Amino acid sequence: MNYYNELVNTDIQGRNVLLREDLNVPTENREIVNDERIRAAIPTIEYILSQNAKLSILSHFGRPKSGAFEKEFSLKIVAERISKIIDKEVHFEEIPISEKSPDYRNEITLYENTRFLKGETTGDDSLAKKMAKNCDVFVMDAFGTCHRKHCSTFTVSKYSPVTCGGLLLMEEIKNLEKIFNQPKKPLLAIIGGAKISTKLNVLRELINKVDAIIVGGGIANTFLLGSNFSVGNSLSEKSMVENAKEIIKLAMEKNIQLPLPLDVVCENQKQINIKKVEDIIENDIIKDIGPKTSLKYKKLIEEAGTILWNGPVGMFEKSSFESGTKNIAVSVCKSKGLSIAGGGDTISAVQKFSNIDEIDYVSTGGGAFLKFLEGEELPGIKIIKKL
Ligand code: 3PG
Repeated sequence: MNYYNELVNTDIQGRNVLLREDLNVPTENREIVNDERIRAAIPTIEYILSQNAKLSILSHFGRPKSGAFEKEFSLKIVAERISKIIDKEVHFEEIPISEKSPDYRNEITLYENTRFLKGETTGDDSLAKKMAKNCDVFVMDAFGTCHRKHCSTFTVSKYSPVTCGGLLLMEEIKNLEKIFNQPKKPLLAIIGGAKISTKLNVLRELINKVDAIIVGGGIANTFLLGSNFSVGNSLSEKSMVENAKEIIKLAMEKNIQLPLPLDVVCENQKQINIKKVEDIIENDIIKDIGPKTSLKYKKLIEEAGTILWNGPVGMFEKSSFESGTKNIAVSVCKSKGLSIAGGGDTISAVQKFSNIDEIDYVSTGGGAFLKFLEGEELPGIKIIKKL
């Protein structure tokens, strides 16, 4: 890790520290429903405060229209939650940074949603200068937003005297690099979700690294089409069938296991049936994997030395279609191999069906986690690299 500038090796004693976190937590009616991302940021916040530094925190929250305040996307509730967790007053600053740069008068200040600022998502230089003004050190800790080349995740580092990676970001990099650099074999990836198009690059990258891949959800349906099975009315991407075929061919050439579902749970006119994949008819809609498939996947999970999981294998939100994802969650949690999971749906599934603490590493990233696995250099990580 000695090619990164790290917060723990940076002198911030009594300095003005500007910190970018990803405090984009899920809410319902302005209530935080899961504060994992806030909790993941606390060690960095407490470390900075322990150095007698003055701290200004930036984060985005949701996807408001650029340049406009929208109450539902205000970070005020997050400031209150941080304050409760660390048992300290957190000043919440509503005056936009575009009008007033941070002055580090308070011990800890959280600024309103960066995406209310014009120029944030385009990485605007003049906004970045205003953000960086008065700061001695910029700490990038927002792994979940590292794939965005925004003002507060990237451009700001051009104008801050020093840039380094916070505790959370370094932990994410360390764990994800471990999978790629020295994975305990066999390495198994479980890639589920609706669309192969959003995960095509990661599948292509993983095929060069893993020993086995389990595909799930709409992605598996597109692979079934590519293997000449009918999927009825199931979620799939016909335009991606050729890509699926190409991945199947690559897997065969490289001797990588890419098992497709043997049986599935289908819905047809409110009737729910378990069927062999060869028996799927026109109006069937695949909503989960079947028990034989679950057993086969369980065995692969048990044998794996390292498991990387992103995306559910069925519509686990409904009890009739939860078994496949539930079995995977339980098997991954029980596995003796090193397990790493990322992405909002994956974490919700693990929390629903098993004990999240049994996963060796849970990434705070969704899109960023996938981009990292694709092998892309993320803008938010580039800025902490030593020159
Ligand atoms: C996430 O939730 O994945 C991150 O906070 C990034 O959010 P974004 O996709 O809106 O940039």
